[in-house]
Amino acid sequence: MKKLNGVIDSQQFDQETLNSVFRISADMEKMQSHDLLKGKIMASLFYEPSTRTRLSFEAAMCRLGGQVISTENAQQFSSKAKGESLEDSIRVISGYCDTIVLRYHKEGGAARAQQFSKVPVINAGDGKGQHPTQALLDLYTIKKSFGKLSGLTVAMVGDLSNGRTVRSLSYMLGKHYSDNKIIFVSPKQTRMGEDVKQYLTSHKINWEETDNLKAAAPQADVIYQTRVQRERFQDGDSAVYEQVIKESERFNVNGELLALMKKDSIVMHPLPRVTEISYSVDQDPRARYFEQAENGLFVRMALLKMILSGY
Ligand code: CP
Repeated sequence: MKKLNGVIDSQQFDQETLNSVFRISADMEKMQSHDLLKGKIMASLFYEPSTRTRLSFEAAMCRLGGQVISTENAQQFSSKAKGESLEDSIRVISGYCDTIVLRYHKEGGAARAQQFSKVPVINAGDGKGQHPTQALLDLYTIKKSFGKLSGLTVAMVGDLSNGRTVRSLSYMLGKHYSDNKIIFVSPKQTRMGEDVKQYLTSHKINWEETDNLKAAAPQADVIYQTRVQRERFQDGDSAVYEQVIKESERFNVNGELLALMKKDSIVMHPLPRVTEISYSVDQDPRARYFEQAENGLFVRMALLKMILSGY
């Protein structure tokens, strides 16, 4: 039996492992609860706020019969507040548990943690870096919607320079699903990073960049909307932030945009949403963001099984 040795980034996955994640996630979706991970302990260590990632990982562990230890707001209530380094915290916490789910405010946090951890680390978002478990649940949602992960046009919209979910999704699509087209739609200040674009080009992915969402919408099978990541703008950047917020208004998904989209397309969003998807869109059958969030539970159950019990 193989074991997954943690989750740090999207590029670590090979096709066979991805297929196993999707297959086991589907099994988990059919199963209510289990004692598969009885006796195992998951530590959730979040240095940034979270609703979905933290609670779905914790629920996943509970549903599989395991237990959870955590610190409420690690920036404030862990010994980080007394000056302890991430490395020292991880050395200690990894002696108390079987896996650590880490959300860190700086890029590379999960990779740093893995070097000092005795147990597998799961990257639950590292600053502007990556959010690989989100990409897995995003692909699982797309696969459930279309029955395939190829031959699709995916428009990623919004704050692409600061959004870690779109970076992880791009890497995962780029590495394994070359028969797709990606359209990056954003204001000029928040374009997708050159590192991701170079990666896609080197993997022969058909991608383009535009600031015209209305032109992209009729082509898209998936509109993957994102919010402006206010927390990534420094205090000195408040003018840029205000400018991006103003410019982003024309990238909103609303009734007018839905009318331009294909009948069988879908609207996704990693959430939380602020104003970039109108609440009226929620009633449209193409709105899949709440289902997407729920899929996070099944995918994270699958990952915990693959890490702690094997597959
Ligand atoms: N999608 C996501 O990461 O949401 P949370 O910040 O609520 O975990």
